[in-house]
Amino acid sequence: MKECIIKAEKLTKTYKLPAEKILAVREIDLDIYDGDFIAIMGPSGSGKTTLLDSIGCLTTISEGKLFILGKDVSRAKESTLVTIRRRFISFVFQDFLLIPSLTALENVLLPLHFARLPQEQRKAVEVLKRVGLGHRVNHLPSQLSGGEKQRVSIARALVISPKLLLADEPTGNLDTKNSQEIFDIFKQLNEQDGLTIVVATHNSKLGSLAKRMIIIQDGRIIPREKSIL
Ligand SMILES: Nc1ncnc2c1ncn2[C@@H]1O[C@H](COP(=O)(O)OP(=O)(O)OP(=O)(O)O)[C@@H](O)[C@H]1O
Ligand SMILES: [Mg+2]
Repeated sequence: MKECIIKAEKLTKTYKLPAEKILAVREIDLDIYDGDFIAIMGPSGSGKTTLLDSIGCLTTISEGKLFILGKDVSRAKESTLVTIRRRFISFVFQDFLLIPSLTALENVLLPLHFARLPQEQRKAVEVLKRVGLGHRVNHLPSQLSGGEKQRVSIARALVISPKLLLADEPTGNLDTKNSQEIFDIFKQLNEQDGLTIVVATHNSKLGSLAKRMIIIQDGRIIPREKSIL
């Protein structure tokens, strides 16, 4: 039986602002299994980022339950969430978030440092090669194209050999050709390496390349036939 990487039960996230309470994610039930490739789609403000941040332990949840690799982290301390993030879950963001003063190789080595894993250059070069950047290891981010920067950020995500890769609008800043290349990399990582991937995207063509599509509206998962997408 496939391992359940993430189990969310009635997961709810509320943002409390001085003047109002925003229910960004409402009672979401979601199981993510080893080897899944899920696209989360929905209109702007529907809760995609909040859901990814919640299952990725970037934020605490307000109500409901969240299990990661079978461990109940619903009310876990920040220090526990940090450890889970550093060891098991990697993120790819729309803005790449590379450190400008570090080379591609040095950017990729950083997560090993934070996870207190051996900073093996060989491993970092290997993941850069995996995303087709073996010839760009010593380039600074400013010397790379947008698509190459996103590939460095994917290599940085892969270097800890995560159980789960979460990507929030990874192609939002890229043209059609580079967006397709990034999705091709995700597809290969999923099909060849068995990596579990969840990606939030506005791009329905790319979203349809995932094995499973989830539509979210007003913080809730809705059946596809009711979706406006
Ligand atoms: N840090 C925050 N504090 C308060 N409200 C927030 C915060 N982050 C998001 N929200 C609100 O929560 C709701 C869901 O936002 P979220 O960013 O998850 O949507 P999204 O689906 O990712 O949108 P987009 O497609 O534009 O990225 C929105 O109403 C948003 O205004
Ligand atoms: Mg978002």
